[in-house]
Amino acid sequence: MPENRENTCFLRANKKEFRVNIMIKFNVPPYIGNEENYIKEAIDNRKLCGDGSFTKKCNKWFEEKTGSSKVLLTTSCTHATELAAIMLDLKPGDEVIVPSYTFVSTANAFVLQGAKIVFVDIRPDTMNIDEKLIEDAITDKTRAIVPVHYAGVACEMDAIMDIAKRHNLAVIEDAAQGVMSQYKGKALGAIGDFGCYSFHETKNYSMGEGGAILIKNPDMALKAEIIREKGTNRSQFFRGQVDKYTWCSKGSSYLPSELNAAYLYAQLEQADKIFDDRINSWNKYYEMLSPLRDKGYIELPFIPEDCVHNAHMFYIKCKNLEERTALTEFLKERDILAVFHYVPLHSAPAGLQFGRFNGEDKYTTKESERLLRLPLYYGLKDEDLMTVVKAVTDFYAR
Ligand SMILES: Cc1ncc(COP(=O)(O)O)c(C=O)c1O
Repeated sequence: MPENRENTCFLRANKKEFRVNIMIKFNVPPYIGNEENYIKEAIDNRKLCGDGSFTKKCNKWFEEKTGSSKVLLTTSCTHATELAAIMLDLKPGDEVIVPSYTFVSTANAFVLQGAKIVFVDIRPDTMNIDEKLIEDAITDKTRAIVPVHYAGVACEMDAIMDIAKRHNLAVIEDAAQGVMSQYKGKALGAIGDFGCYSFHETKNYSMGEGGAILIKNPDMALKAEIIREKGTNRSQFFRGQVDKYTWCSKGSSYLPSELNAAYLYAQLEQADKIFDDRINSWNKYYEMLSPLRDKGYIELPFIPEDCVHNAHMFYIKCKNLEERTALTEFLKERDILAVFHYVPLHSAPAGLQFGRFNGEDKYTTKESERLLRLPLYYGLKDEDLMTVVKAVTDFYAR
């Protein structure tokens, strides 16, 4: 792995060289070592557009890993969710249930198909949609539930699948952050009707920009392939199943380039190495920040018993917004980048236009204002992690 030198400088004194951190980044895109070789192989194959050998290897890898009947790489998780939304054949006015504490694409994908978004509050322990509040948000217009596995920690999928079954609703898992995480032994993304992964550079496994859709029902696979290929049956044509391809349905261009898939495949081959490295950092943060939690200064993430998480992020919760702002500034003064998200969607201009919040916003806004994400990426050095822990500890020792 190339040394992450951008945040490092070397000082020479007494004929010795000292490494000095000048900035601890929040994220460094994953790089495992074989990416260039595979990109070169894709170039040598003279196949740069999608669905070449690397795209197929990635799809197969995920099918085997998750047990999903069909996985298709896409150009982003946003596009995987849009594809799922098109699959639902939504009518204007149909409703989709979404947590307000999420990335815009979770809601936007359905708004593009004319749906109205019904926001539901989160649980403060996992920051995931509160499964107990979903049923109250269902009307005769409801078509789907979109659980978001925040930080790669699973939503209560048994309860959500049960509600969906009883009300005949589709479940689209936003597992953008949940690659390699599990709920009761099942891969996140492979539990609902559709699952959506992200391989953006901020994610555990990356291709720069990219994603995947996981499809549970094998009968839906062909329709998904057509939507992904601009509404044509070109994939069937390339497989020799039809003698010409044609415009079959609504669709768009959701097929990523082989170059991106080649970059991703190098990481999938070493998925466990990346997983272990992140978990190691996550556990160190947890252990070293526990004294602050025990003294009541901060809260630490909660992982329910049935969940295997992928260490997608490490966050702490401060007392309130004011304290989080002061801590973020304190860390910045020490050249540590810590970030927060999301502005709850129901209070955003588009959220007000396209959605409504069902029930009371008891936790979404309050908890979102307390949460602060600490630097975490594949290859984060122990010394940098300890610098972050020390800075947070110093802040609360003031
Ligand atoms: C919960 C969630 N959903 C969707 C997305 C969108 O992913 P992408 O950037 O691959 O479109 C993100 C990206 O950060 C996300 O965190």
